[in-house]
Amino acid sequence: MKKMQLSVVLIRMTLAFVFFCIQYTSTAQQPSAPSWAAETAAAKEKRMQWWTHDRFGMFIHWGLYALPARHEWVQNRERITPENYKKYFHYFNPDMFDPAQWAKEAKAAGMKYVVLTTKHHEGFCLWDSKFTDYKVTNTPYKKDLLRSFVEAFRAEGIRVGFYYSLIDWHHPDFVYDGGHPPTPIAKEDREKANAGRNMVRYQEYMRNQITELLTKYGKIDQLFFDFSYAGKGRKEWDSENLLKLVRKLQPDIIVNDRLDLNETTWGWDYKTPEQFMPKEWVKVNGQKVPWETCQTFSGSWGYFRDEYSWKSPEQLVVMLAETVSKGGNLLLNVGPTARGNFDERASERLAALGKWMKFNSPSVYGCTEAPEYFKKPANSILTYNAATKRLYIHVLEWPFKTLLLEGYKDRFKYAQLLQDGSEIRFSTITKSGGHTTETSGENDVMLQLPVQKPNTLVPVIELILE
Ligand code: GLC
Repeated sequence: MKKMQLSVVLIRMTLAFVFFCIQYTSTAQQPSAPSWAAETAAAKEKRMQWWTHDRFGMFIHWGLYALPARHEWVQNRERITPENYKKYFHYFNPDMFDPAQWAKEAKAAGMKYVVLTTKHHEGFCLWDSKFTDYKVTNTPYKKDLLRSFVEAFRAEGIRVGFYYSLIDWHHPDFVYDGGHPPTPIAKEDREKANAGRNMVRYQEYMRNQITELLTKYGKIDQLFFDFSYAGKGRKEWDSENLLKLVRKLQPDIIVNDRLDLNETTWGWDYKTPEQFMPKEWVKVNGQKVPWETCQTFSGSWGYFRDEYSWKSPEQLVVMLAETVSKGGNLLLNVGPTARGNFDERASERLAALGKWMKFNSPSVYGCTEAPEYFKKPANSILTYNAATKRLYIHVLEWPFKTLLLEGYKDRFKYAQLLQDGSEIRFSTITKSGGHTTETSGENDVMLQLPVQKPNTLVPVIELILE
């Protein structure tokens, strides 16, 4: 008997030791956060609270590429030499630039934050940077655009974020590589062109510019770095020190995931799927994480005159609802023209979104993925607000007279159309319908809908939950 007890103890001790080793080695393999980046999960959640609540922001891509109006990558795509590209610099004079108007349109569309390209890959800066001549104040326009931009959006209560391109096709120290040679293309020519270029100096340039951006324009809420790829990443950007600087200058700022620090837990705040709709809540190592998808109206980010693949207002509303239904944010892009205004196609879509948001924004702000026990009714998208205990059914195809909610019995106490707050009556189903009623399971509920689709792009039904 004693022998038995002893062996049990021994087995237990061995097991405990093995578990300890497994745990120790698995945590040891996780790159631990440097002290400046240490933050509890609760503190991070709190820092990001406004952002996860607000859900909907405006991206703005604006730079010299608005003049050719053939995509913001035009310099690279058409292999335009820096000398030839300079003409856009010499003609940049957006006489219709009125940031108050931009901010008004963003606000009316229901957007709560904005992210502007302070510098895109072309290297041109929209602010009066001390560290380059390639900036707006040296164009015929002469003025710093960023200051009036920031002030106008803040005046509308919209939070301000900056996009900053890590890639720079203009800076004399940016080392050309296979992916990003504006010119020349051939390897040996490229190597020649790279002689004397120095990424360490370029890193310093970025730190200097980021310091300007994060110290001269008040509180900056979000930073969007763009982007890393094979050959240019963490090492080439000196990402860790860049991020350390950002956190020091703006401790509350929310930073995206393009610094090539993705295998860490501390080097990014949210994921950035772009130009596609993720199939589900974005996950990292099986865990749901904060995410924001950035999307365009028509394909390119910069103003593109001859692009005709514009999404319809309805598609955009669906995109917003679908993003929120998967726990994400939507950053929807406008590419202002060379005159400095939003073109008609963009303004029309913003206005349509605004018209829908005016009535239906409760299904967006503060909302997220619905609990699994709410089965999605046919042709619909669900969002859910845990704080107000509401479930929102976005009805994509208006059905005839009824909408079946399977398993919803006793899960909600009242239903209304969000558009006008009009009651939607419902019944738990009669077991065997006569020849004028549908039958269904005993836990199901049938909503009684008006035959005509309410006059809105995507009608939303609000369920007040038990
Ligand atoms: C890509 C493109 C860039 C655009 C960005 C938006 O990284 O290179 O042009 O600014 O997507 O996320």
